[in-house]
Amino acid sequence: MEIKKVGVIGAGQMGNGIAHVIALAGYDVLLNDISAERIDEALATINGNMSRQVASGKIKDADKDAAMKRIGRADALEALGDVDLVIEAATENEETKLKIFTELCKMVDARTMLATNTSSISITRLAAATDRPEMFIGMHFMNPVPVMELVEMIRGIATEDGTFSDATEFVRSLGKTIAVSEDFPAFMVNRILLPMINEAVYTLYEGVGNVEAIDTAMRLGARHPMGPLQLADFIGLDTCLSVMQVLYEGLADSKYRPCPLLVKYVEAGWLGRKTNRGFYDYRGDEPVPTR
Ligand SMILES: NC(=O)c1ccc[n+]([C@@H]2O[C@H](COP(=O)([O-])OP(=O)(O)OC[C@H]3O[C@@H](n4cnc5c(N)ncnc54)[C@H](O)[C@@H]3O)[C@@H](O)[C@H]2O)c1
Repeated sequence: MEIKKVGVIGAGQMGNGIAHVIALAGYDVLLNDISAERIDEALATINGNMSRQVASGKIKDADKDAAMKRIGRADALEALGDVDLVIEAATENEETKLKIFTELCKMVDARTMLATNTSSISITRLAAATDRPEMFIGMHFMNPVPVMELVEMIRGIATEDGTFSDATEFVRSLGKTIAVSEDFPAFMVNRILLPMINEAVYTLYEGVGNVEAIDTAMRLGARHPMGPLQLADFIGLDTCLSVMQVLYEGLADSKYRPCPLLVKYVEAGWLGRKTNRGFYDYRGDEPVPTR
């Protein structure tokens, strides 16, 4: 199957990054979200991020102009009727995603392949809510999408070989490297990464160290490019909590219990960088630890 036109649902930090790399690779993209303002914000972000790539010499001005022209808006799901592939990158909430796929199947062509960028939710369960589980696949991009090389590919129980090979060929054409994961809660990267972040939040919660000490310890002591709390803010604390809940419930093991302090930050709406406050406060010139 030849992929030419791709729909992206959810224009947040992942959706705009996915639209960015797909458009630069020469595909037409239609971007959907719950409001016109969110799509406007995403287009402005993509424009800004591509300008930075031009300034650093990674792409040419003409590449940016051509890519921006390839990105259109889909204010409603109906606009995705004739795309070859839809990548869902909406909020990490199973109910939200199930609702999107149920609605989407009423709108799209019978040959349209469906993919989800979920960080943790069962591909088989999401696929079962569609009318085409054999044409459904997990395509887990990393954040920030234009920079990170890896895409985890996850087959659901019903995913056909043809879907898998078309999807992997598409992802490779974006210049990404693939790691294949079985369909288990949080797959591979987040199965390993998120319990470490959750443990960092417990370390803070129990008063073993403050935000700055914990992040410094892991940057300089384990050579991590970012401290775990800084990374949590970057991922989004709501996404971190959702992934821990999926691990906790999906694997039924108390070692995955989300830290109560992580729950509290999410309840406060302090979701990290995207809301300007999380383990750090980003409202000033420099990030300031909140604990
Ligand atoms: N943040 C990360 O580091 C990361 C990495 C890999 C994968 N993911 C996954 O990508 C997905 C999106 O995460 P994000 O970090 O971009 O979150 P985000 O909060 O930045 O963006 C989510 C977007 O989805 C939109 N949305 C919500 N309901 C919708 C609906 N019904 N229809 C259309 N749009 C809807 C929201 O308005 C928002 O713009 C999640 O499944 C997440 O687990 C996140």
